[in-house]
Amino acid sequence: MIIEQRFTIRYHYNIHFITGVFNADNPTFGDILSAHSNSGFSPSLLFVIDSNVGAQHPQLLSAIKNYLYQNMPGSNSPHFLIIPGGEKAKESSNAYQAILNAIHQYNIDRHSFVVAIGGGAVCDVTGFAATVAHRGIKLIRIPTTTLAQNDAAIGVKNSINAFGKKNFLGTFSTPVAVINDGAFLKTLSSRVWISGISEAIKVALIKDARFFERMEQLAPALTAGNEDAMLETIIQCAKLHLQHIASGDPFETGSSRPLDFGHWSAHKLEHMSGYKLLHGEAVAIGMALDCTYANMMGYLSSDALNRILDLLSGLNLPVTHPLLEDTEALLNGLNEFREHLGGVLTIPLLRDIGETCNVSIIDEPTMRCAAKKLAAVSQPTSLV
Ligand SMILES: NC(=O)c1ccc[n+]([C@@H]2O[C@H](COP(=O)([O-])OP(=O)(O)OC[C@H]3O[C@@H](n4cnc5c(N)ncnc54)[C@H](O)[C@@H]3O)[C@@H](O)[C@H]2O)c1
Ligand SMILES: [Zn+2]
Repeated sequence: MIIEQRFTIRYHYNIHFITGVFNADNPTFGDILSAHSNSGFSPSLLFVIDSNVGAQHPQLLSAIKNYLYQNMPGSNSPHFLIIPGGEKAKESSNAYQAILNAIHQYNIDRHSFVVAIGGGAVCDVTGFAATVAHRGIKLIRIPTTTLAQNDAAIGVKNSINAFGKKNFLGTFSTPVAVINDGAFLKTLSSRVWISGISEAIKVALIKDARFFERMEQLAPALTAGNEDAMLETIIQCAKLHLQHIASGDPFETGSSRPLDFGHWSAHKLEHMSGYKLLHGEAVAIGMALDCTYANMMGYLSSDALNRILDLLSGLNLPVTHPLLEDTEALLNGLNEFREHLGGVLTIPLLRDIGETCNVSIIDEPTMRCAAKKLAAVSQPTSLV
């Protein structure tokens, strides 16, 4: 016999764009806590903070304490855990274990909140630990890099690396809310500031030719560190990502992953570089590689390819790297990507700016040629 079990869960969360999340007169954070707390119950809070954010914003902890004191009188004192920022947070299980230890030690339960404040890596590991402990603790993400605000921290995925593979361990789960606070972006190095733009170019290339044109216009302002140009880019990128997530397969049960455009080689290059390449930089090279391949295979015109390479280079994003010479190691990335998708290899390629197609077979000799061709491109060594 069969007993049928069926239920539907609706997911909803907001991405708030504000400045000064812990300014005492800013209601956003307090409103989110109130809206998601059981009435009459004072929740515990564990803040997991990226070490570089802590270093660049030395008043952050006292601002948080003061904010809670002013806005939530009688609330429990917050707990803080600082973890190393950058890919280190995901590469070993140290940060993950430290977060679980803190959840255990401070009795953070399912009525409590874990608040991640940091780059995409810190948001990923914190989200993973928060969804595993007690089968899921409420998570608020406060992303502090351009890439985390436009992509990594706004969606439904959390992960850490294992067995030498990017994102090998992870979960799908939704945050309670995401707060994109522009004030954090002021302390980014120009390298980290720029690297996030590659995810915006990615989503423009696969979904929105007009957004690509707009980024061509915004490029000089973006490279000059213009905050309005960055905010516009982050908002449009976030909208396109969120629309995609809600449009059919949020928990990635199928093999088609347009948002992974350029990512099969990006993840491999990040690992091969010992994570000296930032994720956004590796994605820029990965997109340049797949567009060069698409051009060699006759999918993508040379005009479109040149526009794409020009925009990436014009934004000071790398399109080449000496590691592209190691085509043997690089092409293993295809097998790892196939494993990660499960089932059939499905690689998104461009037919035009804003138009994709999926291929399930990559012609390896042509991909090797594309990698060698890009490896020979000259760019300032600071970008390579
Ligand atoms: N979960 C997802 O859906 C998803 C999507 C895309 C990327 N990611 C992941 O995101 C990670 C990349 O994120 P990223 O680009 O933010 O890099 P990152 O997290 O490695 O941060 C880059 C550097 O900036 C520092 N930093 C962060 N905020 C700062 C601030 N306000 N001021 C000064 N320094 C600051 C960090 O400490 C780090 O050294 C990768 O691990 C990638 O796999 C996840
Ligand atoms: Zn990415």
